[in-house]
This record gives sequence, structure tokens and C-alpha cells, in this order.
Amino acid sequence: MRAQGVKLRHFMDYFTTTNAASRQQASCLIVGIYESGQLSSAAAEMDAATGGAIKRLAKRGDLSGELGESRMICALDGVRADRIVVAGLGQKGKFGVAEFRQAMGAAVRTFRGSKVQEVVNYLTLEDVNAASAYYLARYTVEAIGNGLYDFEDMKSRRKNVKTPIRKIGVALKDAAERSMAQTGAEHADAIVTGMTLAKDLGNLPPNVCTPTYLAKTAERLARQHDSVRTQVINEAAMKRLNMHSLLSVSNGSAEPAKLIVMQYKGGSTRDKPVVLVGKGITFDSGGISLKPGPAMDEMKYDMCGAAAVIATIAVIAKLRLPINVNAVVPSSENLPSGTATRPGDIVTSMSGLTIEILNTDAEGRLVLCDAITYSRRFKPSVVIDVATLTGACVIALGHHRTAIMSNNDELARSIASAGDASDDRGWHMPLGEEYAQQLKSNFADFANVGGREGGAITAAAFLGKFTDGLDWAHLDIAGTAWLSASKKGATGRPVPMLTEFLLQRAGVLP
Ligand code: BES
Ligand code: MN
Ligand code: ZN
Repeated sequence: MRAQGVKLRHFMDYFTTTNAASRQQASCLIVGIYESGQLSSAAAEMDAATGGAIKRLAKRGDLSGELGESRMICALDGVRADRIVVAGLGQKGKFGVAEFRQAMGAAVRTFRGSKVQEVVNYLTLEDVNAASAYYLARYTVEAIGNGLYDFEDMKSRRKNVKTPIRKIGVALKDAAERSMAQTGAEHADAIVTGMTLAKDLGNLPPNVCTPTYLAKTAERLARQHDSVRTQVINEAAMKRLNMHSLLSVSNGSAEPAKLIVMQYKGGSTRDKPVVLVGKGITFDSGGISLKPGPAMDEMKYDMCGAAAVIATIAVIAKLRLPINVNAVVPSSENLPSGTATRPGDIVTSMSGLTIEILNTDAEGRLVLCDAITYSRRFKPSVVIDVATLTGACVIALGHHRTAIMSNNDELARSIASAGDASDDRGWHMPLGEEYAQQLKSNFADFANVGGREGGAITAAAFLGKFTDGLDWAHLDIAGTAWLSASKKGATGRPVPMLTEFLLQRAGVLP
């Protein structure tokens, strides 16, 4: 099975080209047509080279300029490529990064399943909101990586035929852009590899992807990269560390909790690390505060924060970024049983603060607080936790944006801008003492829930009680880590946002 083998080889090979589209040899080219009927520059060039064949198809109504539509044309006289995919580009004045990615997605759906060996993208010749060759190459490779992803490892017979594609080309206006585009493609290759790992871990069923499985995956990554060290802390050691908050979540489960600690060293020993903390609840039933039945299966995705931070370590190790980054993953399974934690139980966290557990379904914060306290030993420059933490976050931001909360506005801004640049967007939400007040308890230092109002923020405020003196940000990915219904599946977010943030810090963006 792929996820067990952790696919870390190159996703694809890359090249750039300044050839005219009609002269480019390849099994598939991607060009476009706007809603108005205007052809993309490469489509227009091919139209001229074929005596107007493309315009004739458009006139006949065989092509669609609508965004999200796309058609394949095979074997055209006067064109060297075997196939042309013509993607709808929508309104010419509105063709930006999001539209570019949407058009690419439609194009990939069109050639996926065909015997395509190499694809050359000519949409990069369009004006995409002045995006640089670096980002256009990156978005090209990411779109193809996302479009080709499937998860059929658990089916006894695979439905989808694998596309045999192994090479991606990026068309450039100017050969001077070549090294920028090549860098973009290489960064994207690592990001795709990381997103694939994050998606696989998310999509695996909870009887396979247990805390122990996540720990083994992290250990395997350490074996594959000399720059990565993984240490797995078991329950006995957690007890010695006084992580009673984390441990309380596993009380009802036969699966032992694991604290997974990964250290990537790419910087000098003196450089303080960025510490990424990822919520790793491999199944969240709610515990004694049992969740309602519908869609409970989706709580296998409650480890997507863990998957994202483990995958991000894989990405930066592959890119050999000159920085230090650690991942700390508290992993556990939240089930009811005769030994499960009860509502009303009071536990002492590693920090010494006591917590009244009024709702066993607010378990993410219970594992994260001890992981954040543990991360202090690394004297981190920043701590960023990533968690499918609250249903309230999904109500606030839907499935489009990740919530960003921080005790440092500058840090929140740089994460939000990394999200914008990588088109893996977030939104800065507030924090404040007034929210923390909602966590009052009559019996312990505070409670683990603060009522329905502002639920995403009170959850962050709970974590904020453990971050004194740290530069800390919290990413609530409850709405963005996976999609539901017919599109059910992990998204691999926020691997692009985190990677962009680290690329920026490492100073390696062109
Ligand atoms: N993992 C859930 C959050 C969640 C719910 C994410 C639905 C995505 C979709 C988390 O552990 C949880 O159950 N949170 C509770 C907190 C509440 C009890 C204060 C929630 O959001 O209902
Ligand atoms: Mn829960
Ligand atoms: Zn949860």
C-alpha cells in the first residue's frame, strides 16, 4: 500500500519550453479559450498553424470558454503534439490565480486516464494577475498533482486507470524565466509529495491509521532523510512527564497514545527552531460526550493537523531548507468505555494548570496543551499548532479558509500572507482575555469548554493559557482539511501554507 511505503520519490520530471505550441512535441498540450471565444495566445498560434482548425471547432460549439469546462482534441494536422486540451478560461479580465488553478483542474480531469506521458502547459503564457514564472510553474505542478490524486489503496480492484504521465513542461515567454520556473516546479514537486502523504494519512481508515501508525510513518521519514530525527514517546514516558491532560483522552481506547517528536536540522545548531504542533486524534467519537451518528466516520480526519505537520517536515527535508523545524504530534484515539474520562473529571496538565473536563468531545485542546508545553524545551522561535479543532470554525469560515489566531499580530500576518501566496488561504481571527473568561470553572483553574458562542476562539483561548512567553499561532483547519459528500477526501491543506511560510523564513523564494 502506498501510504505504508510513504512515496517520497520525485512526483515528476520537469522542463521548460519557449517553442511555439504548434512546434512542441508532447503527448498533450494545455491551451485555453475565453468565454468571449477569444483564444489563449498558444491556441491562437496553433489556430494559425492549422488553417483555422481551432476557431472552426469553437464556432461549431465543440469548445467551451466556461471556467471549469475543458475538451480534448486529438491529432490535428499542423500540430506536433498528439493531443490538445482546450480549457475554458472564463472572462478574460478576470483570469487570476484562482481561475488559473480551476482551469488547470478541469484540464487534468480531461486527460486523466488517457495514455499521456508528458503534458506541456501553455496557459502560463496568459497574463495571470502578473504572477511570476516561479508561481505559475508551481501552480501548474500542484494542480496536476492534486488532479491526479486518488485513494483506491483500500479497494480490492482499482477503478481508476493510472495516467502514465512522467514529465511536465511549462511554456515560457522568455528563456530568461527558465530558472525561476524550474525552481517553482521543484518546490511544487515537494509540496505535491507532502500533500499526497497528508491526504493518504487522512483518507486511511481509523482502524489502520492509529497513533502507532502515525508514529511509524514519522520514523520511516527519519530513515529516508538524514536531516530528520524522530523520537516516539510512549504512555509510560508521558506519565513521567506529567502529561495527564493528553493521557486522559486515551483512557477509553485500547490504542496507546503516542507523542511523536520530529526534528529537522537544516540550519545551524544556534538557530531556534520553528515548532509545528499537529492534532493527531486518529478517531474522535466524542468519548462519553458521544457525537451524533451522522457523518461520524469523518472524524477519522481528526488527525489531519498531525498529517500536515509530518508531511511539511517531509517537504522541507526534500527541499533541504536551511532552517530548523520540529514537529510535535500528540496522537490518541477518543472513544467511550468503562475506563474513559468522564465529564466532570479534573486533570493536571504538564504545565501544572488544572483542567475541568466538562465535555470529553473538546479533546483536541487537551492533547495540544501538553504538546505545546513539551515544545518549550526546544526554545522555539515560533510555535504553530495545526488542528481540526472546532465545528464552530466551519460555521465561521466554511470550507474555504483556515482560521488563524495568534498572540503576535505580525506572525498572524505573515502566515496569512503565506496562505495568499500559496493559494491555501487563511483568515486572521481575534483572541483576547474576554474570550478566555468564558472558560471559567468553579473547581479547577479553568474548564475545557467555553460555551457555544465564539467556539473557535474560546478553543484558541484555551491553548493560549499554555503559551505565555511564546510567539504562537493556532491554525484551525476543521473546515479546510477535508471535503465531504461526493467529494469526500482529505485536501492536503495546509501543507502549501506552512511550506510557503517556511520557504519565506528560509529566504529561498525568488
Ligand atoms: N474534532 C472536533 C471538531 C470538528 C467537528 C471538526 C466537526 C470538524 C467537524 C473536536 O474535537 C470537537 O469535537 N469539538 C467540539 C468542541 C465543543 C465540545 C466545545 C465541537 O466543535 O463541537
Ligand atoms: Mn471532539
Ligand atoms: Zn476532535
